[in-house]
Amino acid sequence: MGWAAVVVLTISFLTVNTVLCHTHDDQGQKTLKYLIEPPVYAEITVPRGGNATLPCFMHTKPPRYRIKWVKLEPQHQGVENIVLITNGHAQKHYGGLGPRASLREAHPLDASLRLANLELEDNGRYRCELINGIEDESVEVTLSIEGVVFPYQSKHGRYKLTFSQAQAACKEQDAILATHKQLYKAWTDGLDWCNAGWLSDGTVNYPILLPRPACGGELAAGIRSYGPRDKTKDHFDTFCFTSATSGSVFFLAGPLNFAEAEQACRADRGELARVGQLYAAWRFQGLDRCDGGWLRDGSVRFPITAPRRHCGGLPEPGVRSFGYPSKAQRIYGAFCYR
Ligand SMILES: *[C@@H]1O[C@H](CO)[C@@H](O)[C@H](O)[C@H]1NC(C)=O
Repeated sequence: MGWAAVVVLTISFLTVNTVLCHTHDDQGQKTLKYLIEPPVYAEITVPRGGNATLPCFMHTKPPRYRIKWVKLEPQHQGVENIVLITNGHAQKHYGGLGPRASLREAHPLDASLRLANLELEDNGRYRCELINGIEDESVEVTLSIEGVVFPYQSKHGRYKLTFSQAQAACKEQDAILATHKQLYKAWTDGLDWCNAGWLSDGTVNYPILLPRPACGGELAAGIRSYGPRDKTKDHFDTFCFTSATSGSVFFLAGPLNFAEAEQACRADRGELARVGQLYAAWRFQGLDRCDGGWLRDGSVRFPITAPRRHCGGLPEPGVRSFGYPSKAQRIYGAFCYR
């Protein structure tokens, strides 16, 4: 039954799509003979650890063909990042994604790609190519890892990170450098930050919702960009991106100094949480705690999902920071990850 339903759906899609293709022809868009053009908004959103299916369907099968799935970003020295190739019978898997990739093949015209156990780096555009030896066709789908962007500053102070140090800093916090699109999404969700940070494309930006004199003056609200900067010579903060985790974050009440906080987490079969893990728990597990707690990088923070007076003061939900206090201070609790 389910199989039949899918086929019917595909065929009705085909009729609509053919009409669309003809009108698009006037603007120079290529008409697809075998593949079905996905809607322009085709975007799959899945949290880290989840499974995704990237749709790719044929109208009809050419007599002989191969399907090649390619990840388009990031490109390394012009080398094609192939995920999987099939000739309709056998499949070959490539690269880091290959072992987690398979074809769905829900019916004979289904060339959709399944990706299991998604990682932060899987985010990006993918292309489904039909190669038939005459005129190749392709369609593109965007896979968006659902997550959270956070600004990160070195413990040595403001604007101390080169591009590669920013990459390493995000990695240490269970995150990767955010893309421009992820920062834009975070801005639409309320991120307003007055310090400029690296993004994965090597540009430096900061997101402003409420223009103010201390923060670039009367420039318009939005993502303000310094453009591409020198990756080895220039120093900024960074914007990191993380997503759901398989573990959970919990709070241990203080007062503890940093070393005691480390021990307390270990005694509870955990370890001090990374900044990304705290953000993920705040965003995906609703963690709300009005007490500062040590994190693994030596910073002290607390996550607020229900803003209230006497609790950081700000009206919006967020993860607040006390910066990097002296590790000898015995005032705070601990955020542990297990
Ligand atoms: C993802 O797929 C794998 C099999 O490939 C399965 O074991 C796992 O439970 C799935 N995960 C989710 C979140 O559905």
